[in-house]
Amino acid sequence: MIVKVCVGSSCHLKGSYLIIQRLQELIKENHLEDEVQLKGSFCMGKCINGIPLEIDGQIVLQVGITNIDEVFEKYILKKGE
Ligand code: FES
Repeated sequence: MIVKVCVGSSCHLKGSYLIIQRLQELIKENHLEDEVQLKGSFCMGKCINGIPLEIDGQIVLQVGITNIDEVFEKYILKKGE
């Protein structure tokens, strides 16, 4: 599974670095290092909608540090089962 996090300038200011950090922690906690590949992406053109993630081609909008755990559970853990 490939998970891309937007690190364009607008998302960078909104804290995409923290999102990546948290995702790395969650991946480790769930022992998914071999399954989930984390990548940075240039601007996805969705700057007004929080920080966008792309999870295996599916765009997930409105991601922020407050809901990243939920997004991980919903989109990454479920799919990885
Ligand atoms: S900078 Fe992230 S969508 Fe534009």
